Amino acid sequence: MTIDAIDFSRLYQSHLALAARTRKNAGAWDTRAAGMAARALHSRYAQDFVARMDLTGAQSLLDVGCGPGTIALAVAPRLRRVVGLDYSGAMLEALRDQAAARGLTHVQTLHRAWEDDWSDVPVCDIAVASRATLVDDIAAALVRLDAHARLRVYLTHPVGGHFTDPAIQRVVGRSVPGTPDYIYLVNILHRMGIHPRIDYLTQESRLADAQGFDDYAQRVAWSLGELDEQERDRLRAWYERATPAERAGAPMRWAFISWEKSPC
Ligand SMILES: C[S@@+](CC[C@H](N)C(=O)[O-])C[C@H]1O[C@@H](n2cnc3c(N)ncnc32)[C@H](O)[C@@H]1O
Repeated sequence: MTIDAIDFSRLYQSHLALAARTRKNAGAWDTRAAGMAARALHSRYAQDFVARMDLTGAQSLLDVGCGPGTIALAVAPRLRRVVGLDYSGAMLEALRDQAAARGLTHVQTLHRAWEDDWSDVPVCDIAVASRATLVDDIAAALVRLDAHARLRVYLTHPVGGHFTDPAIQRVVGRSVPGTPDYIYLVNILHRMGIHPRIDYLTQESRLADAQGFDDYAQRVAWSLGELDEQERDRLRAWYERATPAERAGAPMRWAFISWEKSPC
């Protein structure tokens, strides 16, 4: 048997099914829009992502799963056309508000899911998907992203697949299966004849700046699923004696995956 016998796309799907309990829908992301707009746009993560992008020769960008415009807005002043695509209406509203506040009239939004009809989604010089690739059919998503870029593609996908440090999961008494990590994507891209560059980004923990225990428990529940009373009590007892660093847990790591389009 060789590696060619492995269907990484199917393997990804069966792995993702294990994490079904913590999957989010558009409505759940709507509730995060204001908080993300306040935090993500000025984050170290966004700076590190943008610092790795090459915009040479580019005039347009498509940002898939754009959220409040974390990447789109940061590069918009250097481009002529920017399109943010997301299935969360509240995220797109946050993006439009931010674009208007900055006088960026060339930023458009597209209310769309990865899985929808994309026949009117423009092909742009650069295509980006930042922290937005936990989709059911990752192979189809990668094909779409590649087909919508003329010059370069940039995406980030989790390393390890845990959004909350497993040490904090143990405190709660839960063991949440990690989501499929970036290595599936590398193998699927390889099968597509694409040999990407891979780098790594660190994201400051989402738990670090929680405002008190209720906010902290809510943030833990976002990635572990709702906590029952006993789980919440265990978390509170630990929280009260934990140091700020222990409460924050290990920072999240993302693989930064990029490739150049070969000239036709
Ligand atoms: C973690 S946020 C990332 C936002 C932004 N790209 C960033 O890096 O800050 C994930 C975003 O992907 C969007 N998203 C998740 N699944 C999606 C899907 N199937 N189709 C379109 N957007 C999706 C969510 O609405 C959310 O805005």
